[in-house]
Amino acid sequence: MSTFTIDTATSRATPTPAPMRRLTVPRIKAMKGADGKTAQPIVMLTAYTARMAQLLDPHCELLLVGDSLGQVIYGLPSTVPVTLEMMCAHGAAVVRGSYHSVVVIDMPFGAYEASPEHAFASAARILKETGAAAVKLEGGSAMAETVAFLSARGIPVMGHVGLTPQAVNMLGGYGARGKSEAEAAKILADAVAVAEAGAFAIVLEGVIEEVAIAATKTVACPTIGIGASSQCDGQVLVTEDMLGLFERTPRFVKRYDDLAARIGAAAEAYAGEVRARAFPTDEQIYPGK
Ligand code: KIV
Repeated sequence: MSTFTIDTATSRATPTPAPMRRLTVPRIKAMKGADGKTAQPIVMLTAYTARMAQLLDPHCELLLVGDSLGQVIYGLPSTVPVTLEMMCAHGAAVVRGSYHSVVVIDMPFGAYEASPEHAFASAARILKETGAAAVKLEGGSAMAETVAFLSARGIPVMGHVGLTPQAVNMLGGYGARGKSEAEAAKILADAVAVAEAGAFAIVLEGVIEEVAIAATKTVACPTIGIGASSQCDGQVLVTEDMLGLFERTPRFVKRYDDLAARIGAAAEAYAGEVRARAFPTDEQIYPGK
């Protein structure tokens, strides 16, 4: 008698045939040399699901489980309503779907601002529940103490300055930052404060090019731009934006595909074939009855 083992692992659960060695936070930080130069620009994309992580992972150094999932996945109006539970669930999926990239998970609004201790509790939960290597939090000088507190306690932090979408209610919109001299100086000071507090990298979002260049030249850690400048040490985009999944995207986004149109066409073809099916007649089902 033979014994059969049922293989319950579906092909969807086993992504790449040969697991690679995962990059580490110190290696990302070291991509910007002591001379302030980055030999090869750092590639980061957002991912919210295991399958997308599987597809992007071989091409990136960093995968960001951004709180932009609020709008992209959940159809929320902003990132403000995003919860720690959402970030943990999607973060764990992205870690499961990746082998190579450092996975960074956004701390959602309300999970870290009150105090460094509050931030530590949230960040520790994120790392424990997801297996990710780092968190990202928005804010400059006001968050420097928190960045230092987490970094000193074993939690790598990626900073995020310039346009900080969680502060949309204070900013009044998503326009580019740093247009006035005072605002430009504040963003530069924010980047310096977060870098000196121990951030291993900093996202510069929606800032004018002069500010992005000045910050990149000034801080020791890599800067990752989005709507900032190609002079940053790295680049991040929301994956669904660069894939063309939405009709409207920020002006700075380069589209590498037109998935919205392609998905629409595939769904239309499918629907057409289903509707063209002829149901069998009773005679065909019960011949001679
Ligand atoms: O949430 C996100 O996707 C982000 C990127 C825009 C940097 O923070």
